[in-house]
Amino acid sequence: MRVCVNLADYEQAAKLRMTKSAFGYYAAGAGDELTLRANVEAFQRLRLRPRMLVDVTQRDPSTTLLGHRVPMPVTVAPMGFHRLAHPEGELATVRAVTGQGLIFVASTMATSTLEAIAAAATGRLWFQLYCFRDREITRSLIRRAEAAGYSAFQLTVDVPVLGRREADIRNNFQLPEDCRVANLEPYGLGSIRGGSDRESSAQEYTDRLFDASLTWETVDWIRSQTRLPVMLKGILRGDDAARGIDHGATGIVVSNHGGRQLDSGVSTFEVLPEIVQAVRGRVPVLIDSGVRRGVDVVKALAVGASAVQLGRPVLWGLAVDGQAGVERVLSLFRMELDNALALCGCPNLAAIGPDLIARRFAEF
Ligand code: FNR
Repeated sequence: MRVCVNLADYEQAAKLRMTKSAFGYYAAGAGDELTLRANVEAFQRLRLRPRMLVDVTQRDPSTTLLGHRVPMPVTVAPMGFHRLAHPEGELATVRAVTGQGLIFVASTMATSTLEAIAAAATGRLWFQLYCFRDREITRSLIRRAEAAGYSAFQLTVDVPVLGRREADIRNNFQLPEDCRVANLEPYGLGSIRGGSDRESSAQEYTDRLFDASLTWETVDWIRSQTRLPVMLKGILRGDDAARGIDHGATGIVVSNHGGRQLDSGVSTFEVLPEIVQAVRGRVPVLIDSGVRRGVDVVKALAVGASAVQLGRPVLWGLAVDGQAGVERVLSLFRMELDNALALCGCPNLAAIGPDLIARRFAEF
């Protein structure tokens, strides 16, 4: 096997190990994948103005997220179905992520129960929540996550219906029998099978169970069900971010679901300045979708984000080598970040500011 020296190498290596249909489920975006590509390109377009002659022998990329100290401003985005990559699924991922002191965001659509994930974790966990038509299911998930020791929720607001991921229709993507939607098994909803030449099994399942009638009142209802912090994940406009804070959101996750929902939607990095401006430092702003290089963290923080969430590359690491693969992806990413900090003249994150951004990108 060729050595993987960056996160893109892991994607190529994962592709060789996974079935076409499982790889397609992970990799694909919606429609023509315009937003999927735009996410990465937006980060790539920004150029930095590195500061010289700063002593960077000691570098500290650590920060605090919702009161918790983390070794770098990176969390792992909530993603479903880790067992498609590796038989240990989320359990391998969470061991790797929390073992490095990072926060793991467990998905409602995990293939291990949230309780099993919590039992395997050695550090802090957040829970990603989807709101179901059947509010009893949602309420029960909130109770279970609280009982299992999760310390915050990310309420995903960008899936009133599932985006049309054509790879899944073409490949007739099915969740294998040994992959279950473990958190939903107690409600008789553990299996995803079916689909047609017009709609994938995942789309059929989601559109049947998820609540397309979610509104700001639903956010209030979710908040009334828990004392834990609730972040909103999937925000792409400054006005929605501000409204979210008015409705008690304790964090904003700028995300377009990795280009899997609205194709032609804006890239996340493009809207980050607008959102940072609307939030005015009241709550942390996290960003995901298209983060592929350590230097992307410097770019996101220079614009005003508090942290990034890493998505697909973590799954590629898992597919290549289970827990060790995820550990290596995270440590490669950390080395890239460390290198970028040194070369930007930033011994720590406080030294990152808008002055690092090249002027011709002033609109950022
Ligand atoms: C996701 N994402 C996601 N988001 C969420 O809130 N709940 C979920 O269950 C999932 N599931 C999921 C599965 C897979 C295979 C992918 C690739 C993504 C979206 C995820 O949290 C995040 O927003 C994106 O993955 C970030 O984009 P990148 O880094 O993958 O480009």
